[in-house]
Amino acid sequence: MSDDRLFSAFPIKGHTLRNRIGVAPMTRTSSLRDSVPREDVLEFLVRRAENGAAVVYTEAIVTDYESAQGYPRQARLVTQRQIDAWKPVVAAIKEAGAVAIMQMFHCGRMAWEEVNPAGRVIAPSALTPRDDNPLTGRPYPRPDAMSLFDIEHVVDGFVQTARGAVAAGFDGIEIHGAHGYLISQFLSTYTNHREDHYGGPLDQRFRFAREIIRAVHDVVPNDRLLAFRISDWGVADMDVSLCGSADEWRGLMGLLDAEPLDVLSVSTYDHALPAWDSGKTMAALTREVTDKPLFICGGIHDRASADGALADADVVLSGKSMLLNPNLVEDLRTGRPLPAYASEDANAAYGEEPLP
Ligand SMILES: Cc1cc2nc3c(=O)[nH]c(=O)nc-3n(C[C@H](O)[C@H](O)[C@H](O)COP(=O)(O)O)c2cc1C
Repeated sequence: MSDDRLFSAFPIKGHTLRNRIGVAPMTRTSSLRDSVPREDVLEFLVRRAENGAAVVYTEAIVTDYESAQGYPRQARLVTQRQIDAWKPVVAAIKEAGAVAIMQMFHCGRMAWEEVNPAGRVIAPSALTPRDDNPLTGRPYPRPDAMSLFDIEHVVDGFVQTARGAVAAGFDGIEIHGAHGYLISQFLSTYTNHREDHYGGPLDQRFRFAREIIRAVHDVVPNDRLLAFRISDWGVADMDVSLCGSADEWRGLMGLLDAEPLDVLSVSTYDHALPAWDSGKTMAALTREVTDKPLFICGGIHDRASADGALADADVVLSGKSMLLNPNLVEDLRTGRPLPAYASEDANAAYGEEPLP
């Protein structure tokens, strides 16, 4: 690997990333009115593009008004007002030379009644996490097992939100299948006990993801990127893996590889850790199965970790370091010593104080 791979361009389907460094999706819970994020939160994204990031992700945008929201003050992207609020932000990110990607999600059972306008909590099966919800200090409510009507409605929410992103001018749209939210809940035997054709073997647990990917693909013009984010872990009951083995992960990556996706984005706690007993990193394991452009995230905070993570991936994404250091890209270029931030440091994301 040449030393400047991190700063080499990377073409993806008609888009050129000017380097291999991106801003990971980060929820900011700042939308006080009409599900539009606070002005300084939008400006933060533009500033990261102006300071050299090649890819800028939005926070996870919720896909419907009934049950998709899992945190207070999340954003939506379906009304004209919401589209109009994002348009200049997307234009400014692009003007600064970065690729703008909208991430969208449905939280599934990771919600509570009051957080959604319709007060519904839904999931593949009526199972609650063991952990309490840290935001309410209470157990998560028992979700309704989704009916076939619910499934169709939720898929449509992803489609409508993708259309909103297309109208706002985003270069790419990402389906959030990671971190134990709804799509991940369908993929996992821990949370999906369904006895219909959305449960059972991996291929059937994947059906919900496949339906969303294909329905979204149908409304996303060919000049935009379609990405999918995946992880082996979830935000509740963190000790429970999505996949039980390296082989199961390979099987899931094979299913994703067969879909019309332009980017696979793998989210880890620490990109350098070996996956199961494979002796390989998650990125290396994934690379065995797919030639698709591969983004990797998790613990990438300085030049050495960025170079290391790029050994088996095409692009590195940073969450906490991008959040807290507006000059991260330049600091990586000069090889400046940089700290590895802790999760608590990221609480700054949810404050009212604008971030630099
Ligand atoms: C404040 C904050 C909000 C986050 N929100 C999201 C999100 O909306 N969607 C998502 O896929 N990941 C989200 N993440 C996870 C990050 O994208 C990333 O995977 C994680 O922080 C690990 O990368 P890091 O070690 O570079 O911080 C969030 C992380 C932080 C710190």
